[in-house]
Amino acid sequence: MNKQKTYYITTPIYYVNDSPHIGHAYTSLACDVIARFKRLDGFAVKFLTGTDEHGQKVEKAALAANKSPQNFVDEVSVRFRKLGEIMHFTNDDFIRTTEERHKKAAIILWQKLQENGHIYLSKYAGWYSVRDEAFYAEGELIEGKAPTGAPVEWVEESSYFFDLSKWQDKLLELYEERPDFIMPESRRNEVISFVKGGLNDLSISRTSFKWGVPVPGDNNHIMYVWIEALANYISAIGYGDENAVDFNKFWPANIHMVGKDIVRFHAVYWPAILMAAGIELPKRIFAHGWWTNEGQKISKSLGNIIDPLQLVEEFGVDQVRYFFMREIPFGNDGNFSRDSLINRINSELSNNIGNLLQRTTSLIQKNCDGTIASSKYIDLAYQQSIVKDANLLLSKVRDKIELQDFPGAIELIINIANQANIFIDREAPWLLAKTDDDRMRQVLYIIMEVMRYIAILLQPFTPESASKILNQLNIPLNSRDFACLNKENAIKFDKKLSQPSAIFPRFNK
Ligand code: MSP
Repeated sequence: MNKQKTYYITTPIYYVNDSPHIGHAYTSLACDVIARFKRLDGFAVKFLTGTDEHGQKVEKAALAANKSPQNFVDEVSVRFRKLGEIMHFTNDDFIRTTEERHKKAAIILWQKLQENGHIYLSKYAGWYSVRDEAFYAEGELIEGKAPTGAPVEWVEESSYFFDLSKWQDKLLELYEERPDFIMPESRRNEVISFVKGGLNDLSISRTSFKWGVPVPGDNNHIMYVWIEALANYISAIGYGDENAVDFNKFWPANIHMVGKDIVRFHAVYWPAILMAAGIELPKRIFAHGWWTNEGQKISKSLGNIIDPLQLVEEFGVDQVRYFFMREIPFGNDGNFSRDSLINRINSELSNNIGNLLQRTTSLIQKNCDGTIASSKYIDLAYQQSIVKDANLLLSKVRDKIELQDFPGAIELIINIANQANIFIDREAPWLLAKTDDDRMRQVLYIIMEVMRYIAILLQPFTPESASKILNQLNIPLNSRDFACLNKENAIKFDKKLSQPSAIFPRFNK
């Protein structure tokens, strides 16, 4: 028997200093779409997300909230889990960096680096930004601030270092040999020029605060939060435990999905650390862009945070998922506006797909008593160009998903729905009802079969609505994966269709 193909995808782990907002939901949503897609495509999937709970930033936030760090992180972490439930994310695991399993693995990773001679003790003197949890060189500062605009403070303390400077050539070789290691291209170029500019050894411990994982053998030092946090990708699957089934099964990860702001940590530090520890490298780092709100940078101080929970309440979870995956080329920055959200919902979900389904199922109710003698029409349907096109859709959509091109994948599906709308208007089955009963049934059958393809392929993006459509079409639960996108599984009218109900309501501006 063939071994089932595996797929491991991760989100960044989210800082718990803040409430979850649309930026967090976006990274996880992209991963959820891929995870769902891969499951439907026959892969054994591991989809990991979680919370980054250590470090000075979180410690400060806890202090400001007048709570012990542990109580504080327990509370905020739950909010991130809740966001996942509301957005219908299907993560298989949720790692918290305060969990024992994580701390244990982070320590083993540290020891491995030490054993391999890549860690040394020295003194750090330089700039640190708590907000970014990042060290900056003098030359990187802009008007006394971090390039991100975050305030910096001068730090002078004893510190352990990782010998990052020695990895410059190896990293450049890696980017050269594996052009799709960092995507998209613009981020890849940015990383390459950063690494070409030369790398300093990385300070990987701090002594000025306590909220973190102590350095093994030297409790005065706390591991630098980023080194510890990056380890989540392997700690969650049991790194360091000889009997860990998941580590052997799922590592190396297929994708670490991240935002553009944290690409350096993932595409420079993380591969260097892994190479130094003798661990295989992930296959891809994909860095997506940032969302603005009605043209403005999203920030707490501007009070314009987009709350995904509110959006879901107002527009529905699938509508929100659809918009964010559809609106802008994945990798680019994007602007959120209510108008464009409503436009997308109305024009593509309601008018195009919803309307097509509604029209077809009502005609089948009205003119065919809710059923069609399907076996008579299967061969005929598969001779039609529109069904042939639908049949070719999966491989095209798959190619787009391989490149994390979500809007491209959706567009292919929408195009088929467009074609089906043109087809129904041209054939006018409501007129055929009076002149050619057999052709009317053919036409309705063809559209239902195309609708089956559309709904099955929409599942990763709009899971709840897709399943409502498939329920309306009476497609059994075990016939909804991609292996069923063929003639053998063509829609059968074993029972009458139930009364149609609106799947995608329209919204007014
Ligand atoms: N804790 C680190 C990641 C450690 S991973 C080993 C972190 N956390 S974060 O909560 O600040 O950010 C998590 C993700 O949210 C990042 O990928 C970031 O790009 C994303 N976003 C935060 N605001 C965003 C927007 N406005 N738009 C899109 N994504 C943004 O960084």
